[in-house]
Order: sequence, then structure tokens, then C-alpha cells
Amino acid sequence: MKMKEEVRKAFSTQINREYYSAFLYLQMSDWLNQNNWPGCAHWMYVQYKEELAHAQGLFEYLQYRGVEVDIDKVDKPEKKEWENVLGVFEGALAHEQQITTWINEVVDIAAKAGDKAAVLFLDWYVVEQVEEEANQEVNIDNVKAGDGMSGILRRWDYHMGKRVFSGEDIPMPG
Ligand SMILES: [Fe+2]
Ligand SMILES: [Fe+2]
Repeated sequence: MKMKEEVRKAFSTQINREYYSAFLYLQMSDWLNQNNWPGCAHWMYVQYKEELAHAQGLFEYLQYRGVEVDIDKVDKPEKKEWENVLGVFEGALAHEQQITTWINEVVDIAAKAGDKAAVLFLDWYVVEQVEEEANQEVNIDNVKAGDGMSGILRRWDYHMGKRVFSGEDIPMPG
């Protein structure tokens, strides 16, 4: 079944959003480094790589289906002066919640077009969004649990620096 135009377009738009996510997390990683959270900066850099993989998964799926991809300009992430490390992770959670809404919209477009194969492929992304939101919630909880105590927060930052990019974080197109 040839992918319908509205599904193709929705996938293309989602590719752009995943690249935007990558840029946002790259900017956050830099902020964390600049503000002396090297472990968190590493964690966010791994997240940047995950977002690149999300975009690549969608791109490869469109190649697999034999339809054209519209590559669009990626917005510059606002260079925010995040107030503190908590503000960074709260920003990341808010962004992931937005991404979840958008992924669900792409699923709805594919379902409406009767493209069951695309819906099945997107299942991976739907499940992934649960993990992405949960990760940021855990980060927020850990900063709050540290309650401004620098010893605890330093240990937590060290632990954040141990995150490893895993192949399981890569969607399988076909
Ligand atoms: Fe993503
Ligand atoms: Fe993930």
C-alpha cells in the first residue's frame, strides 16, 4: 500500500520535531556543562543522540515505504537562561509531553488513512514516549529529593554521568 500524502507529510513533520528535540537537548547539555553539572550534561548528550536516532528511524521508514521526505529547517532552540538544574529537567519534561501529543496526532492521521503498517511502526514511538516522560520525572524527583544538599546532588550528578547510549533506543524501520 502506497503511503498516503497526509501520512507522508505527518511523518516528515515528526522528523523535524525529533531533530528539534535533539537541538534542544544539545543546548541543555551545554547549559549543564557551563553550570557545573558534568554528569547531567553527559546524560543530556546521550538524550541528544537518542533524538537523532528517533529522527533517523522515521526517515528510514519513509525510505522503506518508497515515499519522499521533506527536510525542513530546524528551529533554533531558545537559548534560555534556565534558572537551575531543576528548571532544565522541567523544561525537558514539558517538551516530551508536547512530543507525546504530536506522536499521538501522527498515529491518528495514519489510522484515519487506514495505514495499519504505519500505525504499527509508530507503536515503538508511543511506547518510547512513556519512557521519555518517566525519565524526566525521575530526574525531577531526584533533584527535589536532593533538596539543595550539595553532597547528595553531586553524587546524583556522578551517577547521571554513567548513562550509556543503547541500541535498544533505536527504532527498527523494517
Ligand atoms: Fe524523540
Ligand atoms: Fe528513550
